[in-house]
Amino acid sequence: MNQNHWEIHNPDGEARVVVTKVLPGKRWLLRLLKANCRVDVCRRQTVLDKDDLRSAISTQCSGLIGQLTEEWGENLFRRFREAGGKVYSNYAVGYNNIDVDAATRFSIPVGNTPGILTETTAEMAVALTFAAARRLGEAERYLRAGRFTGWLPDLFLGSLLNGKTLGVIGAGRIGCAYAKMMVQGHGLHLVYYNRSSNPELESFIKDYNRFRKQQRIAPVSCRRTNTVEELLEQSDIVGIHTVLNDTTRHMIDARRLRLMKSDAILINTSRGPIIDESALVDHCKRHPEFRAGLDVFENEPDLAEGLNDLKNVVIVPHIASATRWTREGMAILAASNVAGVLAGYPLWKGEDMRPFLGDGPPKAIPSIVNAEALGMHL
Ligand code: DGY
Repeated sequence: MNQNHWEIHNPDGEARVVVTKVLPGKRWLLRLLKANCRVDVCRRQTVLDKDDLRSAISTQCSGLIGQLTEEWGENLFRRFREAGGKVYSNYAVGYNNIDVDAATRFSIPVGNTPGILTETTAEMAVALTFAAARRLGEAERYLRAGRFTGWLPDLFLGSLLNGKTLGVIGAGRIGCAYAKMMVQGHGLHLVYYNRSSNPELESFIKDYNRFRKQQRIAPVSCRRTNTVEELLEQSDIVGIHTVLNDTTRHMIDARRLRLMKSDAILINTSRGPIIDESALVDHCKRHPEFRAGLDVFENEPDLAEGLNDLKNVVIVPHIASATRWTREGMAILAASNVAGVLAGYPLWKGEDMRPFLGDGPPKAIPSIVNAEALGMHL
């Protein structure tokens, strides 16, 4: 890579940290500089491939902040270890781009940025749900094309969501936040599919029903389904909030799409490969009343053939976590993971990551996904 692609801060710093993309805000950088790191930031906008990443590590590198668009596997972690690598942090909460087992074999802690994407991502899932239900993309394109000639009784008829049934696949932090926003805001019934039941979510719905009772409004229901199939058959809207791994790849395939109501809405803000995208294109063509709202794609940045032409699909370019607060916060957490490991700090015990975002952050490492495998809990 060309030298012009690099921005170097504190060249005489003790530990060299490579950051493979320019990150939002300044606080993350200050945190690394305060830890006396030399920080090399790659200014290139395009995705770095394995050769780029190898040459970025070079012969001396103690810390790395990488991107979800980069594949970090065995060979790169070996190279990193040989260069003196001590810690890697993904600039993301998801880490399906990383071979965590390989990192663990080379004793490299892998950090991520949980906790601060929750509401932001859930809000995007809500936005996509309504954009799909009310055909916002289509209607906006129509208006901008100068085709609006006056109010009409049947112009862009969409679906009313109030009182319908929401299905949430994956009731982790983001799935729960989405479920709460939708149930509380729009009186939806909830079914969810998750490995185990989520007592916190269920008690939230119970409390909400107490409020509805006081208002003399009928309660909403909440139930965990035993199978994905059951959830798909019952739901008017399905939100996907599960992680991508071998068991969830193509979880939503042609067979399962056929189980869904013909006018259902499918939302995905998690990872693209959870849906068989070609099967979805085919399904949307056959069922014009079916709608989808997608933030993520199977082969980003490419779209499956035909997806771009579908009127019943709303698509945005993987921006669910893209609020300034969240993206700056993710940068601070990634930098704190790196600085914390280099300083030999203990792991942060809590789930709340906000203390890391302000002045006087805790002397702790926010989040290491292979901490247990590395014996860091001991
Ligand atoms: C993540 O952090 O995993 C998100 O996909 C980024 O938006």
